[in-house]
Amino acid sequence: MLRLQWVCSVSHASFLTLGIETSCDDTSLAVLSGPREVLSSVVSSQVDLHAPYGGVLPELASRKHQEVIISLLRKVLSDGGVSNPCRDIDLVAVTRGPGLMGSLLVGAMTAKALAQAWEVPLIAVNHLEGHIFANVLAHPSLEPPFLCLIVSGGHTEIILVRSFGDYLLLGRTRDDAAGEAYDKVAKLLGLGYPGGPAIDHLAKEGDPKAFTFPVPLGHTRNVEFSFSGLKTAVLWVVRRLEQEGAPIPVADICASFQRAAVEALMSKVRLSVEMTGVERVAVSGGVAANSALREAMASQDAWDVYLPPHELCTDNAVMIAAAGYDAYARGLRSDISFSPGPSLVLAK
Ligand code: KG4
Ligand code: ZN
Repeated sequence: MLRLQWVCSVSHASFLTLGIETSCDDTSLAVLSGPREVLSSVVSSQVDLHAPYGGVLPELASRKHQEVIISLLRKVLSDGGVSNPCRDIDLVAVTRGPGLMGSLLVGAMTAKALAQAWEVPLIAVNHLEGHIFANVLAHPSLEPPFLCLIVSGGHTEIILVRSFGDYLLLGRTRDDAAGEAYDKVAKLLGLGYPGGPAIDHLAKEGDPKAFTFPVPLGHTRNVEFSFSGLKTAVLWVVRRLEQEGAPIPVADICASFQRAAVEALMSKVRLSVEMTGVERVAVSGGVAANSALREAMASQDAWDVYLPPHELCTDNAVMIAAAGYDAYARGLRSDISFSPGPSLVLAK
């Protein structure tokens, strides 16, 4: 499936960055002019390929990236009006990690080949820094210091952005990521993959107080998350209802699960604001598209909240190009021999 995102056309007088993102199951490329002007962006989602398995199959993911990346490259260049990339592209930025090794390799090898052929510099970007830049792109007024809650299928962490390139990890999940919990709960409710959007949608029709699921680590004074217990609590409820032969109130379970998950995230953002005194909070990653989380963030007044538009929440190459451009502007360069980092961390 090919999803074409917002495209605008401008003159190419400025610096052009080609961004490449293949860390998981989306093959995405983008052309960025200067720090934040998107000339073109394409995302080829593998959702249909992985859906029958209820999750991403790494071997299938890397094969699919390889199959589609060259035609997507042609498309993103032509959509961006880049007729002569050898002359017009100034920088190639690619996701280095974290992610699936096979998937990362496809992006990295493509980026290395292009940077060498076009004789332009290469920047290997941390995927999580990319998610932070989704917000920087969307909100020109967002300047460090700010907090960033990164909530995706693979990550749940709060980062203090002291300056661009200088990140402090305040805390992360002990086990499952928030998006992973959404996906697992959706799977056990038979809602398919990915589960986040399905639960988000059904929760609107359910009663969030129908079941009292525990808010994981809600009252500890540490910035840390845990979602595996919440997922298990949902499993027990479903099993009990099945044993009783009762109908499963799917919408109520979705709404109650979501209430606990969102409160777990909100409580740790509150704590992080209290601990650091930083009152600007950005939210990034696939779960930042969640309507209940967006509503909870927007309806408090203890901090200023920055949310990316939906198309920049999930994985995309625009954010990678923007993070790469900023790193380049700070004087960073990556060696052409860099290796992908499946477990790369942004901050300790
Ligand atoms: O950032 P992303 O595209 O990929 C990773 O880097 O993991 O995030 C994907 C995750 C999936 O777990 C998906 O279920 C979740 O984001 N997600 C959502 C919503 N849309 C996507 N979770 C809750 N509500 C949503 N509306
Ligand atoms: Zn991501």
